[in-house]
Amino acid sequence: MTEELSELSSKLTDGLMPFFAMDILKRAKALEAQGRAVCHLEVGEPGAPPAPKVIEAVARALPNPQGYTNAKGLDGLRQGLALYYERQHGVAIDPDLIVATMGSSAGFILAFHTAFKPGARIAITRPGYPAYVNTLLGLGFNPIEIPLSAENGWRLTGEDIARAHLKMSFDGLLFASPANPTGAAVSRDQLADIVATCRRLGVQLISDEIYHGLDYSGPSVSALELSRDAIVINSFSKYYCMTGWRIGWMVLPESLIRRAEILQQNLFISAPTLSQIAATVALEEREYAEEQKAAYAQNRQLLGRGLRELGFELPRDGDGAFYAYAGIKKFSNDAMDFCLTMLERAGVAATPGIDFDRTDGNGYVRFSYAGTQASMLIALERMRAFLAAGRS
Ligand SMILES: Cc1ncc(COP(=O)(O)O)c(C=O)c1O
Repeated sequence: MTEELSELSSKLTDGLMPFFAMDILKRAKALEAQGRAVCHLEVGEPGAPPAPKVIEAVARALPNPQGYTNAKGLDGLRQGLALYYERQHGVAIDPDLIVATMGSSAGFILAFHTAFKPGARIAITRPGYPAYVNTLLGLGFNPIEIPLSAENGWRLTGEDIARAHLKMSFDGLLFASPANPTGAAVSRDQLADIVATCRRLGVQLISDEIYHGLDYSGPSVSALELSRDAIVINSFSKYYCMTGWRIGWMVLPESLIRRAEILQQNLFISAPTLSQIAATVALEEREYAEEQKAAYAQNRQLLGRGLRELGFELPRDGDGAFYAYAGIKKFSNDAMDFCLTMLERAGVAATPGIDFDRTDGNGYVRFSYAGTQASMLIALERMRAFLAAGRS
């Protein structure tokens, strides 16, 4: 843990911190209850529902009893996922190495307890998805932060890992590409370097591939294309527009699958049956998912250009996901205050960088562009007026 993080953690009884995006959402909802119209660029979830065929399949299944499934998940779903790896990544994955999980969030819990003993040190990037730190701390693991830089496109390198490991060794590395909050994605060569560095250092790699599919500079590379030692975690939440369905999956090395299965049996029994049925159908509905992605791609350009025009620092648009992580140096050195003021005065909700980076996050705000194009345009116009009026 960095000094800054441990200092922050020690202020709380167990080291957990709030998810500030949710605090902003709560305030935005309160304003809406008073009749204000808010542009929601704070939470990272698609505005669209799942594909129509997904809903139809669930409606058909609903009258039947929905018992537990096999702990690892429905055979049909895991076969579908194996087919997904064959088609999208050109790799043959044994369905028996796949576990259907309650979103990738449950995948993290299974992965940590499958591969490590509590107390183990697990490296994550800074900035990074806030639940990584909080889940690790909550479960008794020790997060080690690897700082990334805007100059390097927020991309993790093998050199970053080796440097951090020399300072303080760690047992595991959890990282996402494309990443939240920066949208940064590593290339095949860069991922190969990360995989090789982890192997050389004896570090268990956990690859969070939740934003795969939502890639604007070429297809995402799965760690499974380069290694069978990695634990891969993925989800139906983002690409398939199924956040609330709480369904995801993980792929494990042969040496870990039985332990993961045992943990799943005891911690969760199985992933929700209806959601597994929905997910099996969603895998075949990539055309629908691609339509949503095309809309995000337009929003990405629109929002990126608009933010730069307004004076936000955004040297380049992210490679994937649906986030712009923009510097606010010109306006403020307190991201939470900036976001709260912008919400109150302009009715635009965004997430303060301190959610993702407890050290340098005060200089950044994350905007999600998963909403409609109209809401991006309104948000930009409102921010223009808000910034022109001055913040004092
Ligand atoms: C990088 C990353 N991983 C995991 C998650 C959790 O997703 P799920 O809905 O699959 O639990 C999120 C959600 O925003 C995320 O950004």
